Amino acid sequence: MTIEPQEYHEALAQLAWQVELGADEAIGEVAVNRYEEKAKPKPKTATAPPVVEAIDEPVDMSAEAARLVAGCGDLVALRAALEGFDGCALKRGARNTVFSDGNPAASVMIIGEAPGRDEDIQGKPFIGRSGQLLDKMLAAIGLNRNAESPEEAVYITNVLPWRPPQNRDPLVDEIAMMKPFLMRHIALVKPRALLLVGNPSNQTLLETNQGVTRLRGRWHEVAGIPALPIFHPAYLLRMPVKKREAWADLLMLKSKLDEG
Ligand code: URA
Repeated sequence: MTIEPQEYHEALAQLAWQVELGADEAIGEVAVNRYEEKAKPKPKTATAPPVVEAIDEPVDMSAEAARLVAGCGDLVALRAALEGFDGCALKRGARNTVFSDGNPAASVMIIGEAPGRDEDIQGKPFIGRSGQLLDKMLAAIGLNRNAESPEEAVYITNVLPWRPPQNRDPLVDEIAMMKPFLMRHIALVKPRALLLVGNPSNQTLLETNQGVTRLRGRWHEVAGIPALPIFHPAYLLRMPVKKREAWADLLMLKSKLDEG
C-alpha cells in the first residue's frame, strides 16, 4: 500500500483533531473476543503484513507554508494560498478562514491572536465583544477599520486564521506553521506601524516569552516596522483597571502617526 505524503498528513491531522476533541481510544464497531483470538493458531501466512511503503520525508508544514507564501505577490494570492493550505488541523474544525478586515492601505496594521466564535461564524477578525471594545479604543484616537483614508484607517488580522477549539490558546506548533503566512501578510501590507494585541501576537512577532505587561510602554520592531504591544481587549474587559495603561499605549501610537 502506498501512502501519499498528502494523505499521510491529512490522516495525521484528522487524528490530531480527534485527540483534540477528547477521543483517547480507538474502538472498532464490532466487539473483538481477544481470548478466542489467542486460542486460534496463527496462520502461517505467506501474505506478508501490509507494508507501508517508504513514506517520503514527512513534509515540514512550516517549510511548506514558507514555500507557498514566497510566490504570493499580493493579498489576493496570499488569501488564496491560505485558504488552500491544509497543513493545520485547526482548519478542519473551523467554519471560516478569517483572513482580515479593514483597509489594506492603512497606516496601522493590528495583529490579534485567533478568531473566536463570532469571528469564526462571520469570517472577520475582532467582531465579538472584544472587537467592539477594540473599535472604541481605536475611535478614541481617530482610527477606524472602515476609513478610506490610510491615515485614519486600520487593517486587522490574527496570528492564526482558524478558531482553536473552545477558544483554547494557540499551540506553539500551530503558530510556527502559520507564521510564514503572517510575515508575508505584514510584508505585503507594509504598514507604518504594527499594533500587537495580546500575548500570542507579541510573543510570536517579538520572539520572546515575555508577556505584554513587560513589553508594553515602548516601541519594538518587527521586520523593520515599528511595533507597539498593547493589552488584548478581552483582558481589558476582565481587568478594566488596565484600561489606563492601554490608553497610554494608544496615545503613543497616535503620536507616532502624528510624526508623519
Ligand atoms: N480575539 C482575537 O485575538 N482576534 C479575534 O479576531 C477575535 C478575538
